[in-house]
Amino acid sequence: MATTDIAPLRPRRDDGAVTVWFGRARPPDADALHALYERLSPESRRRRFFQPMPRVPRTIASHLCSVDPDRHLVWLARAGSPSGPVIGEVQLAVDPDDPTRAELALAVDDDWSGRGLGRTLVAMAHDLAAAAGIETLTAEVLAENRRCADLLIRAGFRFTVSSGVLEGSGPVAPTGRLATTVVLGARPAPLAASA
Ligand SMILES: CC(C)(COP(=O)(O)OP(=O)(O)OC[C@H]1O[C@@H](n2cnc3c(N)ncnc32)[C@H](O)[C@@H]1OP(=O)(O)O)[C@@H](O)C(=O)NCCC(=O)NCCS
Repeated sequence: MATTDIAPLRPRRDDGAVTVWFGRARPPDADALHALYERLSPESRRRRFFQPMPRVPRTIASHLCSVDPDRHLVWLARAGSPSGPVIGEVQLAVDPDDPTRAELALAVDDDWSGRGLGRTLVAMAHDLAAAAGIETLTAEVLAENRRCADLLIRAGFRFTVSSGVLEGSGPVAPTGRLATTVVLGARPAPLAASA
């Protein structure tokens, strides 16, 4: 599959917004991806890996940064510059028995959640999938992970519950606007508690 190289640096904006850079994970990215996994809160890490993970082995990150991109697409989001910290990852593991299907997984740095990065990564997954000839995305989400389930439902997934896990799938619906950068706005202020 053809991949898109990251574009030249654009400066940080002064309104709280930050440019986020996207690129395919490569072997030199392993430490930065591992750092993201280590920064995740215990709950986010459990939601990402489906089990408590006090530490994430570095081998997981190094493996993901060197997989065959025709079988496993892994893209990273970096804050501020193409070499900035990895603040999000999205991956598509192609079904070895059916190359028109791939399983989606993603994670966003807790400090960056709620700014639209998850939604952007899911939209990007649709575009990457379409370019790779994938027609259906699947995902498994812990039943209590409503935020992720809602995000995927809005992206066309339908879920069924099985043993505390939501198993879902949806048709690939590319936006046709795969970008190598997006500008994330400042995190919205929390809603005031109602009286
Ligand atoms: C699920 C996850 C990827 C969402 O990432 P994110 O960057 O926060 O997502 P977004 O900012 O795009 O928000 C997605 C939706 O959740 C809502 N949301 C964001 N923060 C929220 C919060 N704190 N509480 C409730 N809803 C929230 C947003 O309003 C948004 O809804 P919208 O699309 O209608 O605007 C992120 O929370 C995460 O990495 N969780 C841990 C790992 C995980 O669960 N992975 C999925 C299983 S593989």
